[in-house]
Amino acid sequence: MEKELEELKISLKKELEKGKKEADILNIKSLYVGKKSRISELLTKLKDMSNEDKRKYGSLINNTKKELEELVNEALEKISSVSNVSFDDTVDYDVEVGSLHPITIVAKEVTDILKRMGFTVVQGFEMESEYYNFEALNVPKDHPARDMQDTYYLDNGMLLRTQTSGDQIHSMEKFGAPLRICSPGRTFRNEDLDANHENTFFQIEGMVIDKGISIENLVYVMKEILSEIFHQDVDVRLRPGFFPFTEPSYELDCSCLICGGKGCPTCKHSGWLELAPGGMVHPNVLKAGGIDPEVYNGFAFGIGLTRLAMMKYKINDIRVLNSGDLRYLSNFKIN
Ligand code: DAH
Repeated sequence: MEKELEELKISLKKELEKGKKEADILNIKSLYVGKKSRISELLTKLKDMSNEDKRKYGSLINNTKKELEELVNEALEKISSVSNVSFDDTVDYDVEVGSLHPITIVAKEVTDILKRMGFTVVQGFEMESEYYNFEALNVPKDHPARDMQDTYYLDNGMLLRTQTSGDQIHSMEKFGAPLRICSPGRTFRNEDLDANHENTFFQIEGMVIDKGISIENLVYVMKEILSEIFHQDVDVRLRPGFFPFTEPSYELDCSCLICGGKGCPTCKHSGWLELAPGGMVHPNVLKAGGIDPEVYNGFAFGIGLTRLAMMKYKINDIRVLNSGDLRYLSNFKIN
């Protein structure tokens, strides 16, 4: 008898450990201490026992029943403290699942690729000072390059940043050399809107500072990014370019994936799209970031994330991206 009662306790404990929901525990309760349970059966048998056995087993069986009940109650308390919410899984909820914005998707893809190459992802400020947006990037007050990047000047003396390039300076100041950063974010320009221009768009900046960096390192990184994003060989071409913060500078164009290079409004009928300008970081920029250009050099690039999303998803009008129109924007999936 003692052995059987001991075994009942052990087997109840095991069952309770397996129980996940309140309903499981209640089932176990009815099996072990309910009317038809073994312990109740033993209690009813007591009356047919000899007086000696009644004395011997009566309190033992009763005490065991109490112990079994306590074990069940403890398990119930534990479960209700974990979940106070009861969940009815028979109800058929019609939940609409959200989706990521196409620009968020490509930003995530590019940063994932760069992270694998050892880049740290940083985040800059949409409201920026003239110093970080222009001056520290070797674009002094009267430089003609400012004309091409007209923006919104704020009453507090700040501006809405025209490029993520200011994050090069913030990062050099913060981390010093050597350095590998990328910085995705929103940028602004005073633009007239058309299928190809928006006043609000997204870029990702990349910068590597180390000893003995060459333009080949940059071309390698760009090719890695583009081939992974497009899952296909993309034609690219390098053209000499001009940016005050890189020397030499170049423009990396990719063949227009919307028209296959034949020419369309998105590529201004040229068959090519400017996608990722870059170059070797200008010594003045390194100095502005507190880095000695005699010791270190580096490359930098900026990718138009908005343009990249348009290419990847064959979106032929930039305006839909800021439209908030879910009929259109919810059609894109992460790879
Ligand atoms: N900030 C430039 C723009 O918005 C793009 C760019 C060019 C970024 C050259 C760079 C670079 O880092 O090296 O037009």
